[in-house]
Amino acid sequence: MRLLSARLIVSLIIGVTLVSLCTSYYQVMVLNRGLQKDLQHSAEVLGQSLARNVERDLERDAQHSLQRTVQQYANRDHLAGLAVYDPQGHPIAVTTSIEPLMATAPATVLQSIRENHDASAFVRMGSASIHIYALPLHRGDDLVGTLAIVHDSGYIRQESLRIWRETFLSALAHVFLIVLITLLIVRWSIAGPIARTAHWMKALRTGRGTVRIKVPDLEMFRPLAREVATFAESLNTARSAAELEARLRETGESIWTADRLAVHVRARLGEGRLFVVSNREPYMHVRRGKSIEVNVPASGLVTALEPVLRACDGTWVAHGSGDADKEMVDTHDRLIVPPDDPRYTLRRVWLTKEEEEGYYYGFANEGIWPLCHIAHTRPLFRASDWKHYQEVNRKFADALLEEMENVVRPVVLVQDYHFALLPRLIKQSRPDARVALFWHIPWPNPEAFAICPWQRELVDGLLGADLLGFHIQAHCTNFLQTVDRIVESRIDWEHFSVQRLDHHTTVRPFPISVEAGETVAEPLRESAYEERATLLKSLGVEAALMGVGVDRMDYTKGILERFLAIERFLEKYPRYQGVFTFVQIGAPTRTHIKRYHDLQAEVEAEADRINWRFQAGQWKPIVLLNRQHSHKEIEPYYRAADLCLVTSLHDGMNLVAKEFVAARHDERGVLILSCFTGAARELRDALQVNPYDIDQTAEAIRAALEMQPEEKQLRMQRMRKLVRENNVYRWAGTLIGQLCEVRLDVAEEGGNRFRADASVA
Ligand code: G6P
Repeated sequence: MRLLSARLIVSLIIGVTLVSLCTSYYQVMVLNRGLQKDLQHSAEVLGQSLARNVERDLERDAQHSLQRTVQQYANRDHLAGLAVYDPQGHPIAVTTSIEPLMATAPATVLQSIRENHDASAFVRMGSASIHIYALPLHRGDDLVGTLAIVHDSGYIRQESLRIWRETFLSALAHVFLIVLITLLIVRWSIAGPIARTAHWMKALRTGRGTVRIKVPDLEMFRPLAREVATFAESLNTARSAAELEARLRETGESIWTADRLAVHVRARLGEGRLFVVSNREPYMHVRRGKSIEVNVPASGLVTALEPVLRACDGTWVAHGSGDADKEMVDTHDRLIVPPDDPRYTLRRVWLTKEEEEGYYYGFANEGIWPLCHIAHTRPLFRASDWKHYQEVNRKFADALLEEMENVVRPVVLVQDYHFALLPRLIKQSRPDARVALFWHIPWPNPEAFAICPWQRELVDGLLGADLLGFHIQAHCTNFLQTVDRIVESRIDWEHFSVQRLDHHTTVRPFPISVEAGETVAEPLRESAYEERATLLKSLGVEAALMGVGVDRMDYTKGILERFLAIERFLEKYPRYQGVFTFVQIGAPTRTHIKRYHDLQAEVEAEADRINWRFQAGQWKPIVLLNRQHSHKEIEPYYRAADLCLVTSLHDGMNLVAKEFVAARHDERGVLILSCFTGAARELRDALQVNPYDIDQTAEAIRAALEMQPEEKQLRMQRMRKLVRENNVYRWAGTLIGQLCEVRLDVAEEGGNRFRADASVA
C-alpha cells in the first residue's frame, strides 16, 4: 500500500505540475502578445499625433522647439522618450534620459529611413528592454527625417514573471491539496476495506470467527467483492461438507450429502451424461429497469437437482420464461449456469403465447392438475389445449434429442405432469437412453383419472419410461390400477412393473424431501421468542403466540379451510384472542388462470372478514403476506412460530412441512399436517388433521399451543431425524441410482436389441 501511495503521489506531482506549466505558458503567451499589441498601438497613436508638429519644427528649423517637444514626452506611462533623426540617421533632438541609448540611430530607425515607412521592434539595449517605433517625417514628398518613439518594455517581462510566480504557488497548493485528498481516499476507500478484507479472509482461512461473517464492503471494487463473497461461500460450503462427512463417519451414520450424491451419481453415470427436463428453469433472467437480474425460483425440484447437475456437468432443458432469457443464451439457446460459478448447461426452449396458454395454463394446470388433486375443482379438458400439450412435448423432445446427439449412455430425468408424453417420444428415437419420469403430484384412483378424454395417450406416453417415480406407494398403486384399466399390458404386482409392447417400466415411490440444513449450523442470534417479537413488530402486530403457513396461493392448499379453523379456534377459546396471530405467507401463482385469480380475492376477503370480527388494538388474528418470499425471508418465520399449519386438501408430498421441521434447530414448534399430504405418511409425529373438519383443526391448534415442552421436543426430534435421514440428496441419489441400474431392451450403443425384458436389476 505504501508503494502504491508513493507512486500515486509522484504521478500526481508530475501530472499537476505539467498541467500547471502548460496552462501558465499559454497564459503568459497570450498576455505578452496583448501587452505588446497595446504598446505598439499607443506608440503608433502617439507617433501619428506628434509627426505633424515635428515636421513643422523641422521645416522652420526650430531646433529649440524640437528639443522642448522631445523633452516634454519623457517618462510618461512606460514612455521612455522621443528621438528625431535626419535622413542620414544623425540625431537632431533626443530626450535627455534616453540619450545614451539613442545617440546612434538604432537599426529600426535606419530601416524606417531606408524603406521610407514606419517600423517597430522590441530590442534589448544593455540591461534595458525597449520598444522602438520609428516613422518617417516628410516635407511634401521628401523624406526629412525620422521620429522614434521609445517605450520601456521591461514591465511586460515583469508581468510574465509575476504570472509564473503565481502559477508556481498555486500549483504547489494544488499538489498539496490533491495529494492530501488522494491519500485520505486511499486510506478510507482502498487501504481500509482491503485491510479489513484481508483480515476477514484470514479469519475465514484459519476457521476463526463465526461461519457467516459479513463480507467487508468493497464498494469501489464490486467485481472483486463478488468474487470474494463467492470464494468465501465455496470455502464455507466445502469446509462444512468436509466437517459433516467427518462427523458422520465418526458417528457411523450414512446420511446423504451433496458431496456424497455427486460422487454417487458420477460413479453410476460412468461415461454417460445426465439430462434433466422440467417446465420451470433453475435460473431465470428478468429485467429490472435497465439491468438484468437472475432469479432462482423457490422450488424443491431446483434444490434437489442442482447439486447433481453441478457435480456432473449435465444439461438441463427447460422453458425459458424470463423476459430477458433470450438475451442471455448463445446461438444454440444454451448458457452455462450457475451464473457465478458456471458448471452445467441450461438449454432454454421457447414457447409462443398460444403454446404457453394451451400447454401450461390449459392442459397442465387446468386439466391434469385438478384431475390429479382431488380438491373438488373441476378439470377442464379442451381439445385445443391437448393439441398444444402434444406439440410442446414434441418441441421439448426435439430440443432434448438435439442435446443428446452423439452422447453415449444418456440418462434422462423428466420432471412432472407437464411432460407425460416425453418418455415415449424420447425412447422412440433413442432406445439406448435411460429415461425416468418423476411425477411430483398425486396420482388419483382409476375412476377419477378415467374422466380425462386422453387418459390412454397420457398413460401410454408415461409407459415409454424405464422408471416412473411417485412420492408414495399409494400413488404407484393408483397408477398401476389405472394402467390395468386402460391399456394392454402385463403388470407384475410383485415387482411393481409394467410390460407393454416389449418395454418394461418399473414404478417406485421416491419420497422427495428438503436439504435438511445439517451443513449450515448457523448460530441462532436470538431465541424463538425474541425472533417472534421482532417479526410481529415488523408486521405492526402485538401478539404473544404465532402460527405460520407458507403456500403458493393454490386451491389445493386448503388456505380457506385453515382460516375457518383459526376463526373456530378463537371462537371456541376466546382466551387466545389478543394472544395468537397467524401469519400466512402466500405466493401468487398461475394468476392468469381464473380459478387462481378468484382464489386470491377469496383468501383476502376471508382474512379481512375474520380480522374484522376479532381484531382489537394492535392485535389481529391473521396477517396475510401476499407476495413471493425467498427461502431466506421465510426461515425466520419457521424458526419463530409456535406452530406451522399445512392443511392441503390433497398434496403429492408438501415440502413446507419438511422445511418447517428442518428449520427447527431448537427442537420446538408443532407441525399440524393434513392427512391428505404425502408427507403425512412419514411425519407421524405431526398433529394430523382432516382439513375439511374445521373443528378438528381448531382443536389441533389448541393442542399445539398447550402441548408440554417435553412432548413438543420429543415429536420434533423424531421428525427431524427422519427428515435428516431421508433428505433430498437421498431422493436424487436413489432415483438416479435405480435408473442407472435399469437393464435396457436394446444394446447400449444404439445397436441390436438383445433382450426384451428390462427391469431394475
Ligand atoms: C408444483 C409442481 C411443480 C411446479 C410447482 C410450481 O410443485 O409439481 O412442477 O413447478 O408446483 O408451479 P409453477 O406452475 O409455478 O411451476
